[in-house]
Amino acid sequence: MKKTQTQVCIIGAGPAGLLLGHLLRAEGVDCVVLERRSPDYVLSRIRAGVLENITVSLLERLGLDSRMKAEGLPHDGFNLADGERLIRIDIAELTGQQVVVYGQTEVTRDLMDAREERGLEVVYEAEDVTLHEVDGDAPRVTYSLGDEEHQVDCRFVVGCDGFHGPSRKSVPASVGKEYLREYPFGWLGILADVPPCNHELIYANHERGFALASMRSETRSRYYIDVPLTDKVEEWPDDRLWDELAIRLGPEAAANITRGPALEKSIAPLRSYVFAPMRHRSLLLCGDAAHIVPPTGAKGLNLAASDVHYAADALVRFFKAADNDAIGGYSDKALARVWKSERFSWSLTKLMHRFPEDGPFERAMQVAELDYIANSRAAQTSIAENYVGLPV
Ligand code: APR
Ligand code: PHB
Repeated sequence: MKKTQTQVCIIGAGPAGLLLGHLLRAEGVDCVVLERRSPDYVLSRIRAGVLENITVSLLERLGLDSRMKAEGLPHDGFNLADGERLIRIDIAELTGQQVVVYGQTEVTRDLMDAREERGLEVVYEAEDVTLHEVDGDAPRVTYSLGDEEHQVDCRFVVGCDGFHGPSRKSVPASVGKEYLREYPFGWLGILADVPPCNHELIYANHERGFALASMRSETRSRYYIDVPLTDKVEEWPDDRLWDELAIRLGPEAAANITRGPALEKSIAPLRSYVFAPMRHRSLLLCGDAAHIVPPTGAKGLNLAASDVHYAADALVRFFKAADNDAIGGYSDKALARVWKSERFSWSLTKLMHRFPEDGPFERAMQVAELDYIANSRAAQTSIAENYVGLPV
């Protein structure tokens, strides 16, 4: 067994784990990141592409924002479509802020590429990562690399290991509480090297179902429709999906859709999930390890970023200022923002999707709410401030 000592052991080298690792290293806190998969595998995962201010500002603070600034697309607004009408939410005018369209996979790539120059130790293909004694002040994490066993002795473990990782499961059942809402549909997404149909995102609620027109760049588009959970991606050849998108996005957008072969096509389930508390003794949880949002509000990465902002601040205060209070307050502080983002993502999902159990009354409520939004600056401001991201 090869033993190493560090201050913080981070599990998971997705955006949360890498952001946290870089922030701690930048403040002189020793850490190591343990990742189950290879770098290529991590980068192969297709993720959403809208960055809130918190995510942009953390990249700026780390000096890792140059590619995002060069290739990212600043957006001043987005659109809600309900059949004939396009309701534009002018986020710049209503909040004075923008969002940046930049693939979240590219954020991960930028953080990965900087690990050597920044001295961030990331162990890829670490197998059987197991947490021990997180109840005490001297937790340890064991893992195997090839045929060698390793142990990391540390003061804190931060679980950035996503929804399926081991960290959350290390919180005693008597301590943790789960909140779950599963949705009766999935999102079928297609990535294609074609120009976007619109310069801003369009979220559509059509009688046939939901559609989203998004993009990665001026030449690469990302589209989604909602489909029954029983659907298989093989049932959706490209042409059928392009036809459905043209119908659901409405005639104006459809006229500008450029079709092309799918670079990637997959169906993902939707759920709202929160695990509380987000800290148990020497274990902190960040990102998808603690919560999941439906992608409707593009909050996944951005919530991970605000968790990491709070966790990094608390850990730096602990190690550099002997301040235990910030660690003690981490869970409540992170959850306060998590719940507001969960609410927004849930409400936008309810507004923009047709639920199988809904009747004429529920549909009438959607029509009334969209009409209210179309005609109310206050309603649009509420949506805009949630979309750009509430203050951290
Ligand atoms: N041991 C080590 N690493 C693990 C283990 C394990 N047992 N289990 C999972 N991991 C790794 C995964 O391989 C993955 O690289 O943890 C990482 C978790 O990364 P994400 O799932 O991307 O979660 P997170 O970093 O919280 O990102 C949050 O960012 O990309 C967006 O929308 C995405 O909502 C997600 C958000
Ligand atoms: C994406 O571009 O993949 C995307 C954008 C906005 C969302 C979800 C996904 O709400």
